[in-house]
Amino acid sequence: MVGVDLRIWLNHFEYHAEHPRRVPWGLPDVLTGAERRRIAGSIATFQLGEQSQGATLTAAAKRFADAHQLPALTRVVELFLLEERRHAALLGAFMQDHGIAPRRRHWSDSVFRRLRRLAGFELYLYVLLCAELIGKVYYRALEAATGCQRLKGLCRIMVCEELAHIGFESELLLALRARRAAPVRLALRLAHRGLIAGAATAVWLSHAAVLRCAGYGPLSFLRSCLAHYAFYLEPRAGRVAHPSAR
Ligand SMILES: [Fe+2]
Ligand SMILES: [Fe+2]
Repeated sequence: MVGVDLRIWLNHFEYHAEHPRRVPWGLPDVLTGAERRRIAGSIATFQLGEQSQGATLTAAAKRFADAHQLPALTRVVELFLLEERRHAALLGAFMQDHGIAPRRRHWSDSVFRRLRRLAGFELYLYVLLCAELIGKVYYRALEAATGCQRLKGLCRIMVCEELAHIGFESELLLALRARRAAPVRLALRLAHRGLIAGAATAVWLSHAAVLRCAGYGPLSFLRSCLAHYAFYLEPRAGRVAHPSAR
């Protein structure tokens, strides 16, 4: 496939599977009562979203890899899913230590799961990337919203790893999109922007307490999510400013 070197991503995910990032030992792990009330439901919803056995994605990736002669893809996706399950475990351990109950279900998680089941690998990637982009903005906000050093460290790990996921998925999607006719590319871009805008609005409604604490209002949060979308999925020659710098 033009423009995607899966060997780089395979090396990346293999390396981090063998050398998982950890929160430095001994960081202060204090959560005040007010903070706990503010973040408990929010963090539990994101922890639920990180949990995925990934059977649908694994099957879709295998079909796609077979059809496009990309044998490395199945392994990359397997390692990617391992990393997401590690995110769920890291957040789960933090929640357990602070008496935050896990969620069994949340409507936003159910919607994402249903959407992902609807389609093949490419459309799955569109939905997944939408969650990753918003997740990256959210974890940065959570880091700013807490004074707990352990949680800050956890957020930095999440942001770092979600950025790699975003890089991998957007590179694949851009290569796939480039093979489409111009009107189809435009329709896909508009649909994807609409999906991100809808999902960011839904995330705002469920996580406003954390996001407000990090300085976001509904419009600035939406703008930040769309700026990340534009940076990764609408790259222009000569662009130098990263959205996180704004
Ligand atoms: Fe994750
Ligand atoms: Fe991710």
